[in-house]
Amino acid sequence: KMDKFITELMSKMTVEEKIGQLNFPGGGDVTTGQAKNSNIADKVRKGNVGAILNLKGVEKIKEIQKVAVEESRLKIPLFFALDVIHGYETGFPIPLGLAATWNPKMIEQSARIAAKEVSADGISLTFSPMVDVSRDPRWGRVSEGNGEDPFLGGEIAKALVKGYQGDNTYKTNSQIMANVKHYALYGASEGGRDYNTVDMSRQRMFNEYMYPYKAAVDAGVGSVMTSFNDIDGLPASANKWLLDDVLRKQWGFTGFIMTDYTGMSEMVDHGIGDLQTVSARALKAGVDLDMVSESYLATLKKSLDEGKITIADIDKSCRYILEAKYKMGLFKDPYKYIDVKRPAKEIYTKENREFARKIAAESFVLLKNENVLPLKKQGTIGVVGPLANTKSNMPGTWSVSVDLKKPSTLIEGIQSVAGKNTKVLYAKGSHLTSDQELEKRATMFERGLGRENEKRSDEEMIKEALEVASKSDVIVAALGESSEFSGESSSRTDLNIPDVQQKLLAELLKTGKPLVLVVFNGRPLTLNWEQKNVPAILNVWFGGSEAGPAIADVLFGDVNPSGKLPMTFPQNVGQIPIYYNHKNTGRPLAEGKWFEKFRSNYIDVSNDPLYPFGYGLSYTKFDYGSIKLSSNQLNQNGQISASVEVTNKGSLEGQEVVQLYIRDIVGSITRPVKELKGFEKISLKPGETKTVTFKITPELLKFYNYDLEYVVEPGDFDLMIGTNSKDVEKVKFTFK
Ligand code: IFM
Repeated sequence: KMDKFITELMSKMTVEEKIGQLNFPGGGDVTTGQAKNSNIADKVRKGNVGAILNLKGVEKIKEIQKVAVEESRLKIPLFFALDVIHGYETGFPIPLGLAATWNPKMIEQSARIAAKEVSADGISLTFSPMVDVSRDPRWGRVSEGNGEDPFLGGEIAKALVKGYQGDNTYKTNSQIMANVKHYALYGASEGGRDYNTVDMSRQRMFNEYMYPYKAAVDAGVGSVMTSFNDIDGLPASANKWLLDDVLRKQWGFTGFIMTDYTGMSEMVDHGIGDLQTVSARALKAGVDLDMVSESYLATLKKSLDEGKITIADIDKSCRYILEAKYKMGLFKDPYKYIDVKRPAKEIYTKENREFARKIAAESFVLLKNENVLPLKKQGTIGVVGPLANTKSNMPGTWSVSVDLKKPSTLIEGIQSVAGKNTKVLYAKGSHLTSDQELEKRATMFERGLGRENEKRSDEEMIKEALEVASKSDVIVAALGESSEFSGESSSRTDLNIPDVQQKLLAELLKTGKPLVLVVFNGRPLTLNWEQKNVPAILNVWFGGSEAGPAIADVLFGDVNPSGKLPMTFPQNVGQIPIYYNHKNTGRPLAEGKWFEKFRSNYIDVSNDPLYPFGYGLSYTKFDYGSIKLSSNQLNQNGQISASVEVTNKGSLEGQEVVQLYIRDIVGSITRPVKELKGFEKISLKPGETKTVTFKITPELLKFYNYDLEYVVEPGDFDLMIGTNSKDVEKVKFTFK
């Protein structure tokens, strides 16, 4: 039915109208001005636009859709897209924080809520999930992804696609199309510098980086966005092998492919041709939709006339775009996602905010606790630091739709949860960065932190903080990165907490008062000094619009922390890239040693991370029993199980993420020392024991061999279960 409808429609389309469907301009003038009178509205009227991004507000969207379906010749509806990557007006934790929940069910629910809110406001496609595996915390965009692990990233990719798209039928007006990005390998940009070159072996690519993109495709994701980077010398948007051979032919992807923002015209700067050439190359490679650059609009007709592309090339892409609109139900009802009565009922509701608070609390990772937490709801608490009294900093990077005046500050969160019996004092204590640092940086990093109104010297600010500390029973130090320290184009080479804040922290510690460091961060930071000197550290990322009360929930023990790190925290920047699933090398360091001459190590720091992947503490204590295998021999087509009993030995209820790792000891190519192959988050009451069982199948052991065949090889395997990637118990089994 769909094919027939589209064939008929395309038979009526001019070449220009077909090319128009491949054009995806940004809101720009639309978001700020009157859609109808804008230049984009004119283009829509002429049939030069297929879809629009970054237009916010159902009324404006309605206006422009009306132009498309009433004033354009063929009345083809538009779809509308926006970045809804961690919530819409109800903001959830940054994606790296969502990943730290290790709770795919909740992550799916967060996407469902985001889809409901944004579709109520006229949007039918979100640029999420972002699944770029990254092992380099210098890269600012690690905040937008799921961290370093392909398996965890794959599970989250599936959960997000399901949350946005539901059962993939788009039956309801709350099911929106997802967009997996940035295909491919964007997280491996050299040196962690954004948009930078990627060059890697096909084995590494398929075994370590491709899995989450494929997981999203297998889950039925409707669209794919290409990445800005080049791969092995070819920009992703002109890479036929990547788009056609792998994505379409090998993985069977049937949705449409778009570039990232101006990704098409940027290929001129990559140096592979002028605008006409790069556009023709992209179309031939398989890019269907040109985001923002309008290069297709400007050049494809000319390329067609000159025989550089064929009408079949244009038709193929045009069909993919029309199919997406058909699947979304827009031909049946162009106003399906446009109901002006929905926003008031469905956006930023009490229930959505309650959920946001819950998932935020679940994303925080307790890194250290020497009898400071949970805090008591009594006495005097001194809340100190440049991140304690800011609303706009709470939701985190790329919270494009959150009203930044709405979130509670940390102080407000603490006061509301602590109640009337607790006195809360506040001092800013320091700026985010020193004057000298700021001179070298863009001032946007201090946005919302009130620096412009602060006339006092560093010394005066510290003095005030120490006065507050002297009157307090316990100090909460809110330090770290501002939200603009991470995200797109926000790579850093220094991952310490900025020096003025460290100085403040050192002074506060000298008071000898119990202190908890609440670290705000969009990436793993180097917290070596803090780990040695601070008694308690709670890593809170950027927790979304309800971060303030959620942090307080955890500080006071109303919620027991259960987040686990989705990325390794290095001791220092020199260790990067550092990741748990590395290879053994021919000269591994003996266990228990930190240095040996002529071994694979550094002479100035051990190979150990500061905090390993999967790490995170709780206010209670979990004991692991020994691993029980149903058999230590796995056969072709067979299955064995590995079980472990976990007991809550403490006095508080808590959640634990039980993690399964496997090592293929001998392979036809070198294999990682361990790989995450399963996890389960369980909840245990004090004294309670639960058995967690993982199924081990030959499928789980497969990898891409030297010839890129997806195989499982006979031999011995280590199976490890534990509370993080380092603290595991190990047993062996054989696959025959
Ligand atoms: O979705 C984003 C992408 O991640 C980065 N460039 C802009 C796109 C659309 O806003």
